[in-house]
This record gives sequence, C-alpha cells and structure tokens, in this order.
Amino acid sequence: MDSKKVQIPDFDFSKKYDARHSVHYFEKHEKNFMRRLSNWRELKIAQNALQYIGNFKTLLDMPCGTGRFWEILTTDNVKTIFASDYSIDMLKNGLKLRQDEISKQVRPFQSSAFAIPLRDNAVECIFCMRLLHHISDIKDRKIFLQEMARVSSDYVIISLWVDGNIKAMQRASLEKRRAKRRYQNRLCHPRKIIEEEFFEAGLLIVKHIDFFKFFSMWRIYILKKGLIGSL
Ligand SMILES: C[S@@+](CC[C@H](N)C(=O)[O-])C[C@H]1O[C@@H](n2cnc3c(N)ncnc32)[C@H](O)[C@@H]1O
Repeated sequence: MDSKKVQIPDFDFSKKYDARHSVHYFEKHEKNFMRRLSNWRELKIAQNALQYIGNFKTLLDMPCGTGRFWEILTTDNVKTIFASDYSIDMLKNGLKLRQDEISKQVRPFQSSAFAIPLRDNAVECIFCMRLLHHISDIKDRKIFLQEMARVSSDYVIISLWVDGNIKAMQRASLEKRRAKRRYQNRLCHPRKIIEEEFFEAGLLIVKHIDFFKFFSMWRIYILKKGLIGSL
C-alpha cells in the first residue's frame, strides 16, 4: 500500500463516531419497523447496484461504518473485500458485533476517504454509502472524488442526497430557517452540480437507483471510471 501526501480535510462530523456512537449506529437501523424497512430498502438498492456491475473480485467498502453492508458484499469467498473507516471505533464494533463468519471475510483498516492508503487502481469497485452528503465544500469534494477515481480501476458505487423530490423540498425550507448556521452537517446535492463534479473527476454515470423515486433524497449512482474528466 502506498500513501500520498494530501491535505486531509478535518470535519466535525467525522469526530462524532466514537465508541458510544458506533454502538448506537449499529443498533439504530434495527430499532423499529420503519428503520428496518428503510434499511432493507437501502440494502436492496445497493445489492441491485452490485448486481448491475456484475462480477468483480476486489472491492473497498469506504466508509464501512459498522459493516451494515458486509452481508451483501461477502456473498462468496472469492472476493477480496477491504473495509475502511476513519473511526477506529466504528471498525472495531463492526468487527465485534457482526457475525464472525461475515466479519472474518473483510480486510479492515483505518483511513480517511481523502487519502486512502492503497495504490492506484487497487480495487475494481469502491462502495461508498452515506458519506458524500456530509461533504459540503466543493474543494473537499474534489479531493474526495479524485481519490475515489484514483483507487478504483473500474467502478464507484456511491450514495448521496439529491434534489428533485419531496424530501429535498422540505429540506430546502428547513435550510432557509437555519440559514444563519455556519456549519451544515448534511447537504442535499443539486443533481446538475454533483453530476458535473463526477464528470470532472473522470467518473461517468452509468446508472442511478433511487431509494423511493420523487419522494426520498437518497440516490445511488453507479459511476464508471473513464478518461474524459481527466483529459
Ligand atoms: C453515516 S456513517 C455510514 C457508514 C456506512 N457506510 C453505512 O452506511 O452504514 C458515516 C461514516 O463515515 C465515517 N467517516 C467520517 N469521516 C470520514 C472520513 N474523512 N474518511 C472516512 N470515513 C469517514 C464515519 O466514521 C462513519 O462511519
């Protein structure tokens, strides 16, 4: 593994995933019927995205959190699944709380998504759930997307909040009321802008899958590494 010297952005939200919060995060998706339903749907669309890209042998789950997706990522032992997160507590609790036969199939390491200690084209796919909606600054997103494009040889599967749905409209009026707050913890991305940013990073959209079309902000993009943005 080689690591590059980059300016790693320092986010307040990255620091909240301590030992206590990681157990809370592990439990929260199973807390009640609505959470379980929503978790089921998220796993389902992620699985559809993985099926869409077809066979791959190496994948990086970044940020893996407490391994919510490991069950669908480790369906056979032919694949090498790297799992990384900035929070060592999220990683540790994921490994401890998931079933042994699942967690022993992943290769965990702590790192920042902005400076991944893997060589160029190290994995065929990067699987990135629920991180991009936290990255509100365009300069940070640029570093982040370039890092995704550097480490993946083929695909990036990424989830985020997008506009063009009922929840985004509700969010926009909430943001207006909070306009005076300096730091926004989470951001709904205008599709037009984020899609241009993917393109500039050399990541071409091959498909998107909505969590609940026209209602929910969650969307998964399947991006294929190309040359256009880097020309
Ligand atoms: C909302 S959780 C999502 C975890 C997992 N992908 C999931 O959907 O269950 C966000 C995760 O991002 C991690 N994180 C925060 N800042 C990060 C960074 N700079 N690099 C990598 N991971 C980061 C947190 O530790 C946390 O585990």
